[in-house]
Amino acid sequence: MCGIIGYLGAKRVVPVLLDGLKKLEYRGYDSAGIAVVEDSQLTVRRVKGKISLLEESIRSSPVDGKFGIGHTRWATHGSPSEENAHPHQDCTGSLVVVHNGIIENYLSLKKSLKEEGHKFLTETDTEVIVHLIEKYFQGRLEEATLKAVQELDGAFALAAISTQDPDKIVAAKMGPPIAVGLGDKEYFISSDINPILAYTRKIVFLEDEELAVIEPEGVSFKNFKGNKLKKTVDEITWSPLMIEKRGYKHFMLKEIFEQPQVVRDTLQGRISLERGKVLLEETGLSPQLLKAIKRMVIVACGTSYHAGLFGEYLLENLIQIPVEVEFSSEYRYRDFKVDEESLAVFISQSGETADTLAALRAVKERKGKSLAISNTVKSSIAREADGILYTHAGPEIGVAATKTFSAQMAALALLALYLAQLKRKIDKKATLTLIQELQRLPHKMEIILNAEKSLEKLAQSFLPYSHFLYLGRWISFPVALEGALKLKEISYIHAEAYPGGEMKHGPIALIDNQMPTLAVIPKDRVYEKMMSNISEVKTRNGHVLGVVFEDDEEIKDKVDEVIPIPVTDPLFTPFLTVLPLQLFAYYIATKRGADVDQPRNLAKSVTVE
Ligand code: AGP
Repeated sequence: MCGIIGYLGAKRVVPVLLDGLKKLEYRGYDSAGIAVVEDSQLTVRRVKGKISLLEESIRSSPVDGKFGIGHTRWATHGSPSEENAHPHQDCTGSLVVVHNGIIENYLSLKKSLKEEGHKFLTETDTEVIVHLIEKYFQGRLEEATLKAVQELDGAFALAAISTQDPDKIVAAKMGPPIAVGLGDKEYFISSDINPILAYTRKIVFLEDEELAVIEPEGVSFKNFKGNKLKKTVDEITWSPLMIEKRGYKHFMLKEIFEQPQVVRDTLQGRISLERGKVLLEETGLSPQLLKAIKRMVIVACGTSYHAGLFGEYLLENLIQIPVEVEFSSEYRYRDFKVDEESLAVFISQSGETADTLAALRAVKERKGKSLAISNTVKSSIAREADGILYTHAGPEIGVAATKTFSAQMAALALLALYLAQLKRKIDKKATLTLIQELQRLPHKMEIILNAEKSLEKLAQSFLPYSHFLYLGRWISFPVALEGALKLKEISYIHAEAYPGGEMKHGPIALIDNQMPTLAVIPKDRVYEKMMSNISEVKTRNGHVLGVVFEDDEEIKDKVDEVIPIPVTDPLFTPFLTVLPLQLFAYYIATKRGADVDQPRNLAKSVTVE
């Protein structure tokens, strides 16, 4: 997954492009480049590595321009290198393209373009785009681009400029996102809104098979058939400040600490204490439709999948219908059945994960009903699902999901309670008790986060280990999975999560004094069972850290270290138990010198398959 950016306006283009690329770097950071035009002179500068290296290259040998495009890459085809970095040029050197996505038919296109005499310099799929546009170019960039995109199979968010049709940026979307910023006589295109918000909050989101033409007089829109389009302009409320680190060492730490507020914001306006009700009419799915649902499937990837597992336990408990949770990358290829009484829920904070989007489209092809839970307004998944429930976590810059996980759990709690209300599975008193506890969670989360220093100290003592086991049962099993994922993805340490009951079926063979166990053991229906798991680990010389209720005296001499959390309803413990695991992973990773905001090989939103 990559980041693309473009600017045309009165400002000098290079600082705008570099500043924008830094805000897109979380989308991919193995190479980067810009192309700028001044007096029909095109200059391209590319580096292998992060934006900081591109800045250094430009500092040591400055480039300047009136308008231009830029790119930060997460390699799919062609290794990370300067020659494979975008922008890519055509044979004449007067036309350049940046691209996010995958061109699936690039090999056949490359073959025929080579036969027509085009010279290729890279291993990338993207390069076929610039040669296709060159092939069709007859003076108007948008016309050549419209012809070129007809031949592309796969996903693309692209931008092109040419010295032969100057003062123009053309952008085209099929799959990954493109936002167009409408400033005061200055215009932007970007993979997401973060780089644009510093200049304007007026945003147009391109839909699939749409193209934007940016010129000094303004921006026009067309569909791939060449018909002019009238697009709505959204006024985005996110402030640029939300995107800054605000004194924290890393975005990830800032976002861990934002979680209490994020839960408040996601609950805001959706519960009524005086009426003892959840108010969730906003999804776009009618109460009649939701009331009739007899089975659900939750489809997601990564952390969002773990949130889905939390939702499964909650929904089964509160509305007593079958709920399955599936990985998007698997579900999309299954011969699954949908019917009038089933609802598919797609969880994606970015709303652009390719596998989740593909699974949603597969459900729609079978006429299934869909609800998206997303953090990104007007994202592809949010727009294509029948209904949408937005989380209000604000932009999450750290590649490792933290606050969006808590926000997704809050949204799932609201959904479960709303469905329980509609289906009369729960009376007003029980609903009131649960929504009152939901409203207490942010304060309880703050108590845990305030104990951050003790977790930092604890993490320090576990630096020597290179394998960890995470255990949880019932509603704590998704938390064990999420804790293991956090450690893996930001510290590169091997960590596995298992349901406690699985230990005897193999994993217990792993236990020795070199493989510490983090066990999530709130007092709930499986507490006793977890206690026996812990003693199995202890008798095999395993070291156990227990995430436990602060008032649990019994457990204190059963584990080696206790990480206390406030007491809450058994259904809501994941809001609290996940926090110490996030901080544990963060401190292990930072003390190992890892780049927690931009871990190797990862990208924030996987918009390629
Ligand atoms: C989690 O820390 C990772 N960043 C990754 O697993 C992520 O949750 C997954 O790619 C799903 O992303 P989405 O929510 O944007 O669909």
